[in-house]
Formats: sequence, C-alpha cells, structure tokens
Amino acid sequence: RQTSTAARRLHRGMASKVGVVGLGLMGHGIAQVSAEKGFDVVAVELEERFLDSGMTRIQQSVGKIAAKAVAKGKMDQASADAHVASALGRITPTTDLGALASCDVIVEAVIEDLSLKQKLYTDIGKLVHSECVIASNTSSLSIGAMAPFTGRPKQMVGLHFFNPVQLMQLVEVVKTEDTDSAVFDRAMQYAKDLGKTPIECIDTPGFVVNRLLIPYLCEALLMYERGVASAADIDTAMRLGASHPMGPIALADYVGLDTTYNIIKGWDKQFPGQFKVPASLAAKVAEGKLGRKTGEGYHKWV
Ligand code: CAA
Repeated sequence: RQTSTAARRLHRGMASKVGVVGLGLMGHGIAQVSAEKGFDVVAVELEERFLDSGMTRIQQSVGKIAAKAVAKGKMDQASADAHVASALGRITPTTDLGALASCDVIVEAVIEDLSLKQKLYTDIGKLVHSECVIASNTSSLSIGAMAPFTGRPKQMVGLHFFNPVQLMQLVEVVKTEDTDSAVFDRAMQYAKDLGKTPIECIDTPGFVVNRLLIPYLCEALLMYERGVASAADIDTAMRLGASHPMGPIALADYVGLDTTYNIIKGWDKQFPGQFKVPASLAAKVAEGKLGRKTGEGYHKWV
C-alpha cells in the first residue's frame, strides 16, 4: 500500500523519493517522517558508524510512536507492526552520495559548517535532476550562501524543521531571490505531505522562529546569571506563567548548548552590539556540557 502511495505521487508529478543527507538529531527525524508518510527515502551518511547510529534512532523512535498508537487504541498491534516494518523498509541507508541522483527532494541536515556544506552542494549539484528540490535544514546559515555552489540556485530552498521532528508541526520554507516559484511550491507540498504546517519565509538570519527564540533563550540565561531565580524556577515560571511546553533553560539544553551558542555567537559577530552572548553559555560549551545530548547542561538529563 505504501509503495503505491509513492507511485501515485510520482504519477501526479509530485515528489516520490526523498534524499536525506546527515542522520543526526534532525536528519534521522526527517528521514523517519518521510518514510512514515510513504516516501521512498535514501538516507546518506558519509561514515558507516553514523549511518548505524541514525538508523538505530529511527528504529527506536518509529517503534515508540507505534507503541503509543497501540496504547491509545488508535491502531491494533498487527497494523502497528506492519507500519513499522513498511516505514523502515522504505529507507535505504547508504554512504554513497550518488544514490541521491533519483531523488525528487533532497534535504541536507549535516553539521552547521558552511564550507562543509558548500563542498557537499558542489557534489550534490552535479548529481541531481533538473526538477529536484535541493533543500537545507540549516537553522543559522544563509541559504543564499550555499545555493550558488549547487550550480542550480533556482532549485534551492531552506526547509527548516524543528526538534523533535517527529512531533513538531512547523516547517519554515525559505526562498532566496533565485528560488524558482515551482520549486518553492514543491517544497511547500512536500512539507504538507509530511503532515506538517509550512510557513513561507525569506532568507534572513534565524528565519522566523530562531530569530525570536534564540534571543529569548539567551535572555533567560542572562537572567539566571543575574541571580533573579534558579534555572528550575525560571523554567517553571515560563511553563506555568506562559503555558510554554518547556521552560527556556530546559529548552536551551534540549536544543543543545553548542547549537544555541553557535547561533548567538554568529549573530553577535554579524551584528555587533545587537545581541548578548551569556558568559555561562560559553563556559558550559567550553566544559563540554552541551545539554541533553551529553547528559548535562544547565540541568541534568537522565
Ligand atoms: N520520537 C518518538 N517519540 C518521542 C520523541 C521522538 N523523537 N520525542 C519525544 N517523544 C515521546 C516522548 O518520549 C513521550 O512519550 P511517552 O508519553 O511514552 O513518555 C511523548 O513523545 C510525548 O512527550 P512528552 O510526554 O514529554 O510530551 P510533551 O507534550 O511534553 O512533548 C515535546 C514533548 C514535544 C518535546 C514538548 O515538550 C515540546 O514541545 N517542547 C518544546 C520543543 C521545542 O520548542 N522545539 C523547538 C526547538 S527549536 C528548534 O528545533 C530549532 C532550531 O533550529 C534550534
């Protein structure tokens, strides 16, 4: 049934095969939701060990979501098992970038290193077909700084997902001055096909969410540094006083203190005097306490 979903999409001129490059925190989630929604997925990592850890994460997450659906009575066990098997069966893990040649949408989710991404886009640009949407999941780099390296700037957009991709509803779809409108429409459609809600945005630092969120997280860290309240109480305040699902300091830990630091540090350099880099944030990163992923940041994570 799922394969025929892909075939139907292809027949309607829609994306059918998705390539995801990088199976880390974001990439594994993008590959997973694409497969769960019936896309054939080529999942590329440059090293076998990262491919294995990404696929393990996908297996755990897809299993967890299916088990929950069973527990809530939304699916019986047999359908849940079939869903897990067909989603996993639709993902082809590989270390061969060449496998992207047949993809209709490619989402790059490698680390936020501009020169690494530019090199990757040079290779990807040579492989893809002329209808392919080339998308970066970058949260802090300019799409326009990568697009020319593809040799196909009209085909490039940003597709910015949120962590955890499996649960977060939003996708920011980012266009540059060169993005072709048909390519942009296909990117919007892909986000909708994933069951997400896309918003349209121009190529500007932080797009919409991070431009608002990162300064807010940093304000909370500065407040903590001033001794206004404990980290736990600042979090409780925003959970119960503003109905946020997570307090800002827990969220900084959840996003990753290295990611938060790199974004605010980059903006501070780009726009001197407009942003404040919390000293405690720089110190945590220097200590290797990066939040949830290392087990400790401002909070301890078990
Ligand atoms: N796969 C499968 N299941 C997952 C999961 C994943 N990746 N992540 C969480 N879950 C599960 C949890 O284990 C939990 O399962 P159980 O009920 O069996 O324990 C379930 O989903 C729901 O989790 P919670 O009970 O903790 O429920 P919640 O309602 O608090 O939802 C949350 C969790 C969605 C993470 C919520 O706390 C939330 O929305 N937090 C804010 C997240 C956020 O703001 N993300 C954006 C960060 S910014 C960003 O990503 C952009 C950037 O570029 C930096």
